[in-house]
Amino acid sequence: MSDKGFTLWFTGLSGSGKSTLAEYLTPKLHELGTKVEILDGDVVREGLSKGLGFSKEDRDTNIRRIGFVADLLARNGVCAITAAISPYREIRREVRTKTSAAFVEVFVYCPLEVVEERDTKGLYKKARAGIIKNFTGISDPYEDPENAEVTVNTADESIEESAGRILSYLREQGLIAG
Ligand SMILES: Nc1ncnc2c1ncn2[C@@H]1O[C@H](COP(=O)(O)OP(=O)(O)OP(=O)(O)O)[C@@H](O)[C@H]1O
Ligand SMILES: [Mg+2]
Repeated sequence: MSDKGFTLWFTGLSGSGKSTLAEYLTPKLHELGTKVEILDGDVVREGLSKGLGFSKEDRDTNIRRIGFVADLLARNGVCAITAAISPYREIRREVRTKTSAAFVEVFVYCPLEVVEERDTKGLYKKARAGIIKNFTGISDPYEDPENAEVTVNTADESIEESAGRILSYLREQGLIAG
């Protein structure tokens, strides 16, 4: 069992592939002897952040909570994978600063046209119609990371390729076995 915990922080538009990559990576990390916990935005908003909305203040509170729990896990030897849009650069920076274990920010990049075309949850259509307000990329900002440790482009890469690049980085850093 690898005992080096770390936070693998995914950030990107809705539909960019954060949850897909988190789920795909989990068994791969298990095979390498790494313990994994996923803090998925949708699940956290139900279990840890119920009642919070999508104003900047509420989004920041949600992200602070995710960062806090991820750090508790990471410093106990777990790979904490977070999969929330986390659109604001400053709060991502704050969470990174407060994390005691290694912090790996992964920009899950996918152009708006492509995520809108995917519309995996039907939310972009609703956002365009004005049924959903404050929707990231449509009526709310998304601030690209400037210094992400890894950037994947899910419009051009397969899931296997994106996941492979993330695993390569973790291996290079000595955070996982191999
Ligand atoms: N390289 C890739 N990596 C990840 N997902 C990909 C890739 N290529 C295509 N996809 C597809 O993109 C979609 C991503 O949806 P997913 O639910 O993972 O997004 P998300 O970032 O978790 O969105 P949300 O913030 O709404 O939860 C899936 O349908 C997935 O199959
Ligand atoms: Mg998701």
